[in-house]
Amino acid sequence: MRILIIGGSGFIGPDVFKYLSEMGHETILFNRGTPKLEGASCVAHIVGDLRRFGDFKDEFKRLDPQVVLEDMFHFSSTDAKTVISTLKGVTKRIVAISGTDVYRAYGKLFGIEPGPVDPVPLTEESPLRQAVFPGMKGYDKLVVEQAIMGDPDMPGTILRLPPVYGPRSVMHRIYFYLKRMDDNRPVILMSRHLANWRWTHGYVENMAAAIAQAATDERATGRIYNLGETESTSMIEWVVNIGKAVGWDGEVVISPPNRLVEITPFALMRINAAQDIIVDSTLIRRELGYTEPVSSEAALDRTIDWERSNPISAYYMGPQFFDYETEDAILFRTGSEDKTYH
Ligand SMILES: NC(=O)c1ccc[n+]([C@@H]2O[C@H](COP(=O)([O-])OP(=O)(O)OC[C@H]3O[C@@H](n4cnc5c(N)ncnc54)[C@H](OP(=O)(O)O)[C@@H]3O)[C@@H](O)[C@H]2O)c1
Repeated sequence: MRILIIGGSGFIGPDVFKYLSEMGHETILFNRGTPKLEGASCVAHIVGDLRRFGDFKDEFKRLDPQVVLEDMFHFSSTDAKTVISTLKGVTKRIVAISGTDVYRAYGKLFGIEPGPVDPVPLTEESPLRQAVFPGMKGYDKLVVEQAIMGDPDMPGTILRLPPVYGPRSVMHRIYFYLKRMDDNRPVILMSRHLANWRWTHGYVENMAAAIAQAATDERATGRIYNLGETESTSMIEWVVNIGKAVGWDGEVVISPPNRLVEITPFALMRINAAQDIIVDSTLIRRELGYTEPVSSEAALDRTIDWERSNPISAYYMGPQFFDYETEDAILFRTGSEDKTYH
């Protein structure tokens, strides 16, 4: 099968190319830059901007892709409609990568949807957000989903991804904890409201394997699938797991309620932590037989290795997240709550 990938050279994309080529498929890359595919290859590379997507219709026709995979972070309703109209008569199906932020529960997490918390785990049938996505102007996967699934002449597939971690992530999701462990910090402080909050994650290679599978399996036509790990750890369990993987013998301690310490950018957001974002990914497992190729232990080990060999400046991430002096003052001068977890 021949698959055109829009984007594909960022964080998740190179692993999608890797799996598709291992499965024996041919791939075409469309992006604005060089083919940075981390060792994977493609049969053709079209250099172009999504905003001029229609200009490439003849080239797409000549290359004759059976499936088109949308793998771009920003992808508005207008862009989605341009992609659909350009690809009519060119391809048989569009697979769009969405996110679990389309669920109403996500709106409740950020206080933009009224009412009590939504039950979890979230399945593909769970209620969707009515409110516009908070933050990040121009980003809303809900409108992309509506465009992709709303055209009767162009079959689609939607994959709802959780927050993804692993090598190449510009989010460096484990960095804030790992750096403290590598700096031999004896204690990592965590705000109470975040400690027990659960959020389903996905490891980059596993997400890419699921994307490659759904892109090449016709049974995915017209289907919407959640992706994510089967176990959704709490934030404190997530940190403890990183600690075990690196042999850290420190403790995670809940900071006193009046001395909240924000050690990650995410902790700065005022979330309603009563709303867990636990996602049920049973459907893709049952319908397409998807299973993770990489174990959760190996996923964490590979992420740790990559973070250590691709160090970034603490100042790049924001010096306020590494204010050890304040953390020590909270711990040793004013005391903290008794409870420790590791
Ligand atoms: N990362 C996550 O945690 C996460 C979570 C949930 C869902 N998702 C979804 O998963 C997909 C992939 O995410 P990602 O993090 O791997 O994305 P990414 O790293 O931002 O990669 C974006 C890709 O799009 C290309 N691109 C950007 N602007 C373009 C334009 N105007 N025209 C043509 N190509 C353009 C980039 O290449 P050039 O710059 O060379 O053009 C790159 O290949 C996205 O749909 C994202 O929303 C990601």
